[in-house]
Amino acid sequence: MDETLARLFDLHGRVALVTGGSSGIGRAIAGVLAGAGAHVVVAARRREPVDETVAALIARGGAATGETVDVGNRESIAALVGRLARAPGPIDILVNSAGINLRMPFEEIRDDDWDATIAANLTGPFLLTRALAPAMAARGWGRIVNIASQQAVRAFGNSGAYGASKGALVSLTRSTAERWSSRGVTCNAIVPGFVLTPLTREASADPARVAAMAARTMIGRNGVPDDCRGMALLLASDAGAAITGQALFVDGGFSAT
Ligand SMILES: NC(=O)c1ccc[n+]([C@@H]2O[C@H](COP(=O)([O-])OP(=O)(O)OC[C@H]3O[C@@H](n4cnc5c(N)ncnc54)[C@H](OP(=O)(O)O)[C@@H]3O)[C@@H](O)[C@H]2O)c1
Repeated sequence: MDETLARLFDLHGRVALVTGGSSGIGRAIAGVLAGAGAHVVVAARRREPVDETVAALIARGGAATGETVDVGNRESIAALVGRLARAPGPIDILVNSAGINLRMPFEEIRDDDWDATIAANLTGPFLLTRALAPAMAARGWGRIVNIASQQAVRAFGNSGAYGASKGALVSLTRSTAERWSSRGVTCNAIVPGFVLTPLTREASADPARVAAMAARTMIGRNGVPDDCRGMALLLASDAGAAITGQALFVDGGFSAT
């Protein structure tokens, strides 16, 4: 590969924290960051999928370690931030992919459902950004990538809390970018389409719904986690130095129809 091209995307010497890195979109992003040379800290609630992901990354020649965290819990996040001192270096790249989607008709959303959704999908990314961005800025280089959703910009059935959390996450992306970009820390959101992962297992169980979602794209298919790899690497590397404050759709044209 051309040397300039390789340098643009090279992440050797960088340390990345990927929440939700043990499944779906987060796992695919953890894979591409490790493949580009970053040491990846994979973080999620359940230890076993975290360990399995770390082993898979290492087996492919990457560098990775695992941490458990509940991003919906302030104490758990504070404890994780403390333990990050064990990583091989300070966090240069933060990917907020952990998220939940509790689906029920609007009037059935309980206070607990609302609070849990906002905590995991919005407050968690905020707390991690607030904890990690200042040190990135002090070093003059950092990347924050939030995984948002179509539901940030359009209504879907039964997603009153989820859509609101993702809309606010896109706003948080802009305010983070506004605060830190002048010091080398970019912040962007990736907006996937309908991606077949454990998160969408319920919706994916209905073949008619899956086909209808695919038909709404321009590429004629639903998303797979690997679709987000290219955008994540662009945003996490030197190649993305001038991209900040954006919500970038990786949705096969879903949002353009
Ligand atoms: N799939 C889609 O169609 C789609 C579309 C647009 C946006 N997204 C967004 O993409 C992100 C990833 O979704 P996905 O589809 O890849 O889902 P997924 O395969 O279910 O993965 C979710 C990941 O997040 C972790 N996680 C969930 N809640 C957590 C918490 N409170 N604390 C820490 N980790 C937590 C899970 O591990 P544990 O369960 O072990 O914690 C898992 O690693 C989410 O933010 C989602 O909203 C997905």
